[in-house]
Amino acid sequence: MKSLIAGNWKMNGLAAAKSEIESLIAKFDGSAPDDRDVLICPPATLVASFAAEYSDEAIQFGGQDCHANTSGAHTGDLSAEMFADAGAAFVIVGHSERRADHGETDADVKAKAAAVLAAGLTPIICVGETEGERKAGKALEIVGNQLAGSIPDTSDTYVVAYEPVWAIGTGLTPTIEDIAEVHDFIRSKTRDDIRLLYGGSVKPANAQEILAVTNVNGALVGGASLKADDFHPIVMAAPSGS
Ligand code: 13P
Repeated sequence: MKSLIAGNWKMNGLAAAKSEIESLIAKFDGSAPDDRDVLICPPATLVASFAAEYSDEAIQFGGQDCHANTSGAHTGDLSAEMFADAGAAFVIVGHSERRADHGETDADVKAKAAAVLAAGLTPIICVGETEGERKAGKALEIVGNQLAGSIPDTSDTYVVAYEPVWAIGTGLTPTIEDIAEVHDFIRSKTRDDIRLLYGGSVKPANAQEILAVTNVNGALVGGASLKADDFHPIVMAAPSGS
């Protein structure tokens, strides 16, 4: 399986941040290696221009969220079809920051993921427990419930990202054993061809160890995806696949 190394820029990046994409391409010697998939999810304002300018360099672009409907009276929202039209290949849905900041439920996430598939794109469906849930020994139960509620009934390809909420932006990561346990558990609930990403404080220093775990098929990277100097070594730390 090919690894997918995805950068989630969150609410960071103006037009000038294209210099980081250009720096990443330069580090790739002009084109991303074809034995791994490289994805950047910049703010929605930048998806169309980045996709138009850089998709020849084997970097893919994606959205960070979308509405479940195709169009309509939803001021400020964007549909999956709009991301497809802008040249996106993926849309992240159900990120814990959306679940927390916007009260998104598993049912909302499932509807959004279905909309992404209907638009011909691949959803990256995020799940993960809070610190309190892990301390209470409920990590697998929470992740299991989120998976059951958030993944649409489909034979299409989707991606699952396991992002423990307490590891996001904190510099903390679960132990390798804990990552392996959750990823094995998610694999037991999903098809073999579904890529499972780990996210939460992935850095150049820990990427190789995390990406070598069985059933970790890539990473969803926040802060360390903003700078090509950090993101490039993470991309290159993924094992070669086909
Ligand atoms: P950090 O890599 O900054 O911890 O963020 C992870 C994340 O939320 C990616 O979606």
